[in-house]
Amino acid sequence: MGSSAIKCWTTFIGHTMSTTPWPEIHKVVVIYFLLSWLPVCCSSPDPGLRESLMLQESSWETGGRLLLTKAELQLSERLHRLKEQEMASADFPPALHFFRAKPLIQRSPIYSLLRAMPKGAALHIHDFSLVGVEWLVRNVTYRPHCYMCFTQDQSVRFLFSSREPKSIPLCSSWVLLTTLRAKTGNTTDFDNSLVSNLTLFTDDPEEAYTSQDAVWKRFEQAFTTAWGLVTYAPVFKDYYYEGLKQLYMDNCMYLELRALLPETYELDGGTHDRSWGLSAYQEVTRQFVSEHPDFLGARVIFTVHRGLNESMVLKAVEEAMNLQKAFPEIMAGFDLVGREDKGRTLWSFREALSLPGKRGVNLPFFFHAGETDEYGTEVDGNLLDALLFNTSRIGHGFALLRHPLVKELSRKRGIAVEVCPISNQVLKLVSDLRNHPATVLMSEGHPLVISSDDPALFGASGLSHDFYEAFVGIGGLNSHIGTLKELAMNSIRYSSLSPELKVKALDIWKKKWDKFISENSR
Ligand SMILES: *[C@@H]1O[C@H](CO)[C@@H](O)[C@H](O)[C@H]1NC(C)=O
Ligand SMILES: *[C@@H]1O[C@H](CO)[C@@H](O)[C@H](O)[C@H]1NC(C)=O
Ligand SMILES: *[C@@H]1O[C@H](CO)[C@@H](O)[C@H](O)[C@H]1NC(C)=O
Ligand SMILES: *[C@@H]1O[C@H](CO)[C@@H](O)[C@H](O)[C@H]1NC(C)=O
Ligand SMILES: *[C@@H]1O[C@H](CO)[C@@H](O)[C@H](O)[C@H]1NC(C)=O
Ligand SMILES: [Zn+2]
Repeated sequence: MGSSAIKCWTTFIGHTMSTTPWPEIHKVVVIYFLLSWLPVCCSSPDPGLRESLMLQESSWETGGRLLLTKAELQLSERLHRLKEQEMASADFPPALHFFRAKPLIQRSPIYSLLRAMPKGAALHIHDFSLVGVEWLVRNVTYRPHCYMCFTQDQSVRFLFSSREPKSIPLCSSWVLLTTLRAKTGNTTDFDNSLVSNLTLFTDDPEEAYTSQDAVWKRFEQAFTTAWGLVTYAPVFKDYYYEGLKQLYMDNCMYLELRALLPETYELDGGTHDRSWGLSAYQEVTRQFVSEHPDFLGARVIFTVHRGLNESMVLKAVEEAMNLQKAFPEIMAGFDLVGREDKGRTLWSFREALSLPGKRGVNLPFFFHAGETDEYGTEVDGNLLDALLFNTSRIGHGFALLRHPLVKELSRKRGIAVEVCPISNQVLKLVSDLRNHPATVLMSEGHPLVISSDDPALFGASGLSHDFYEAFVGIGGLNSHIGTLKELAMNSIRYSSLSPELKVKALDIWKKKWDKFISENSR
């Protein structure tokens, strides 16, 4: 075959690929079919064809179709060089457990750039793990009237009270922290022990967490330890304010918070209900935005535990509809939380989840689904069911590759997957993040956003650590500045904001982005 014939082939394939409306998978079949004829007539593949196919493939990936400016390309080249250096080192952070990788990541110039980069919105973070635990220990436990008790399972509980609290089954005696600290030889050591009660961090994670059961047990324990601190009404507000501040410092501009809206309490034992919690979030958000006009605010996805029974979830959905009506500005929707493998399935709650539809109420869902590696179980069916209940996004979707039909539907309907790399690694779904399933989703430009799930429990801050893992580990050498740009824009595009607010958000973000690019490209 002469060179003009090859050109003809190349043009034909390129043209066919860019003009047909077929799904990508069909295009692959066509390319394969066309290529299968080449060896018959040619001794070696045509470099022009090769180049064109490579370009074709890279145009599919996240950010692959964005037109980049000269300055963006310059920064991209710099990032590429830095990535090559990190990949060549013996300890490549994404291949290590995050607890081991964190000090290396902190030193990485890529991480510094990602911290400075305007990342848009954090769409998947939970209420009790929003603020770095250092703040809980160094600020909250130093407030007056803070009691602590040692539990039988080597953990601690906290409670603020004007009188000595009554003993509860798990802990028999409460002591004021001021008293405890006065008796402790070294308060730094003591405070560090409190920090370790509130996080999953350990020097030897492989040894400490030998199974998913073991790590989830510790996860729930740390979560419960934070409970008494965070649900004290004055702390509840300060904690949330501090959370917004930490996100803002990490160059995020909007939050969608998965929130249990727990009962909160006062010193005298008086309590507040869910509406109080929601209006507290609303009030603090407004205050924060008034002080930081380039921060767009936050919305709340009301969550209940998936271990609840059907009638409790039905009640929760009804309550969600009422809250939605009373607080339309801040309420974004509803979700179920807790370990999927141990909880009830979405399908088992079908009556409760169909209620809004039956009543003609629009209550958006943001389901965690597919946070499992147990292929073919009932729980593994959550991904399909999430879509059947018209979920707005998919939390984790770790199992999505095993469900090609669900994957196709989520792509077509623009239902984004919230990818939380560090969470998936710490909770033992994957160990080397280069093997995270999102690497495929990213390579084919599936709608996705990056988030951090429970950053405080994992010792991560804001979104930057997870962006590092996604950019360097999941994206490999392939991901580039366009990937980062698209991921940031996705976080606004797939948020629950109104179309008008999305325009405003993108506008604010774009100005920050341009500034970031001009400051960091040389
Ligand atoms: C704790 O944080 C609050 C704000 O949330 C601040 O006003 C206070 O000074 C801090 N206290 C300490 C001991 O750091
Ligand atoms: C407390 O212990 C830490 C190390 O755990 C040490 O660096 C510090 O000097 C000790 N402080 C006092 C007052 O002994
Ligand atoms: C929790 O804190 C207590 C009190 O300092 C300590 O004895 C215990 O070892 C800590 N537990 C964990 C899991 O860090
Ligand atoms: C559901 O759970 C609630 C609270 O634990 C309990 O009171 C109720 O009896 C349970 N209902 C059923 C049908 O099991
Ligand atoms: C999901 O959306 C489709 C199309 O809008 C609608 O027909 C269907 O009833 C919805 N399903 C539920 C469970 O709300
Ligand atoms: Zn989550």
